[in-house]
Amino acid sequence: MIILGIETSCDETAASLVSEGTKILSSVISSQIGVHHPYGGVVPELASRKHIEAIDYVVNDAINQSGISLNRIDAVAVTQGPGLVGSLLVGFCFAKGFAYALDLPWIGINHLEGHINSVFLTDTPPPFPFVALLVSGGHTSIYHVKSHTESVLMGQTRDDAAGEAFDKVSKMLGLGYPGGVIIDRLAKQGNCQSIRFPRSYLDKSAFDFSFSGIKTSVNRYIQTHGDIYKEQVPDIVASFQEAVVDVLTYKIINAAKKKECRHIALVGGVAANSRLRARLMQDASAEGFHVHIPPHIPPMDLCGDNAAMIAATGYHYLIKGITSDINQDVYSRSINS
Ligand code: KG4
Ligand code: ZN
Repeated sequence: MIILGIETSCDETAASLVSEGTKILSSVISSQIGVHHPYGGVVPELASRKHIEAIDYVVNDAINQSGISLNRIDAVAVTQGPGLVGSLLVGFCFAKGFAYALDLPWIGINHLEGHINSVFLTDTPPPFPFVALLVSGGHTSIYHVKSHTESVLMGQTRDDAAGEAFDKVSKMLGLGYPGGVIIDRLAKQGNCQSIRFPRSYLDKSAFDFSFSGIKTSVNRYIQTHGDIYKEQVPDIVASFQEAVVDVLTYKIINAAKKKECRHIALVGGVAANSRLRARLMQDASAEGFHVHIPPHIPPMDLCGDNAAMIAATGYHYLIKGITSDINQDVYSRSINS
């Protein structure tokens, strides 16, 4: 079964063709970073307009690069939510129209479920059940994953998402957008032990997170160190990153212990973070766990938003005969995520 996936939940217009839910035939991602960069964050109104300009070309590119003719596409999978409503609507309406015109079944997919399924696009996917740490710009959650279509939420952030904290700290330091990538790069030049920012574990045996405190601590550090802080930026970002990584790593390993799972997945945009990948690999392996992280090797980036993960998830619904109805609408927030 060959599925066309479409993803437009935030600032990436993406399309992909995936065969049997595992084999990527093509994956095209058109990023809007240049559009939002001057504003220091995503401007929803601009994002929707840019999706409208890009969607037709991106889908065409994905089809052409796959070498698959239109009549070999079996179904369409598209992100239904959560995300920016105006952005979601562009991909959603395009997918409905595409499916209707070619008389194909189609299915609306939860973006978060898409991220979780991104580990099945790797050569060594985890066996079920496993625990997954989903870290993105809007979510930081831990799931007990029982099948491709069934994940139980174990805990989530009570305030900022991890990616949001990276973006806000970057903005505070005048480093720009997108913050995660910039901090990841700059932190390599700093000493991660130089400043002791607080680690917020909340209840150490539970799986909720809080990242607003660390953001405030970084801000207080900047305010109380006058202009000297400007010479310490690599140390500040390395120390901030280490504090976030400490909490994320501790909680997901603890979740694996609690659920007696030997396999851990790390997914979402922040899974691209080099320090988080290295630390989780190191700490979890030392305790006998197997870690699964999607590749982040441009142009094949399966950590950030992409449409291959949406097509792969769609496959598992479609083979069960589950499809969406033409009257379906997008949603900005998940009910249980
Ligand atoms: O999954 P994603 O592409 O979009 C959402 O669904 O939110 O995640 C985007 C988030 C942004 O906050 C971005 O700063 C963060 O992922 N991010 C990173 C890195 N690359 C992207 N955070 C830390 N280190 C990175 N290398
Ligand atoms: Zn995402």
